[in-house]
Amino acid sequence: MPKLNIGLSEDERHGVIDLLNRDLADLYLLLIKTKKYHWDVIGPQFRTLHQLWEEHYEALTTNIDATAERVRALGGYPLGTAAGFLQHSSIKEHANDLPSATEMVDRLVQDHEQIIRNLREHIDQCSEKYHDEGTADFLTGMMEEHEEMAWMLRSFLEGEDLQPSGDRPGSETQPTVKA
Ligand SMILES: [Fe+2]
Repeated sequence: MPKLNIGLSEDERHGVIDLLNRDLADLYLLLIKTKKYHWDVIGPQFRTLHQLWEEHYEALTTNIDATAERVRALGGYPLGTAAGFLQHSSIKEHANDLPSATEMVDRLVQDHEQIIRNLREHIDQCSEKYHDEGTADFLTGMMEEHEEMAWMLRSFLEGEDLQPSGDRPGSETQPTVKA
């Protein structure tokens, strides 16, 4: 790798590149899963989920590119093979099954939450261990996007439990602030 004079030691730079490559692998696996469910989903919510997952995989594609290019900006090389992504990802694949729409949403919520937990830890490591506030900031923005995507999917699951009366599940947790 070339020497960079950007105020990070070689160990710090390599540490950050390793974290970014692991996040890249997770994003790639989630992209594949999101696309597969966009294609496979059936049921009354077909159109909603088909379109939502198209929006999500477009956002993931943008973030995959930005993550790989950040690795290059730090003097490293991004992973770029299916074998490499599989080896370094924390996202589990479910080969050869056709889950219900609800099961698909549930799995994707869990995957986004896994990525959010990983990113939160990587943000801490970037700023405290590797002193790279730039990457910490970059990962923070990405974590917020996953929090939003997870919320959209979680809301779908919560809607499955809506009572015919319109009462929300767990409505006792609603804010009690008076108007
Ligand atoms: Fe499509």
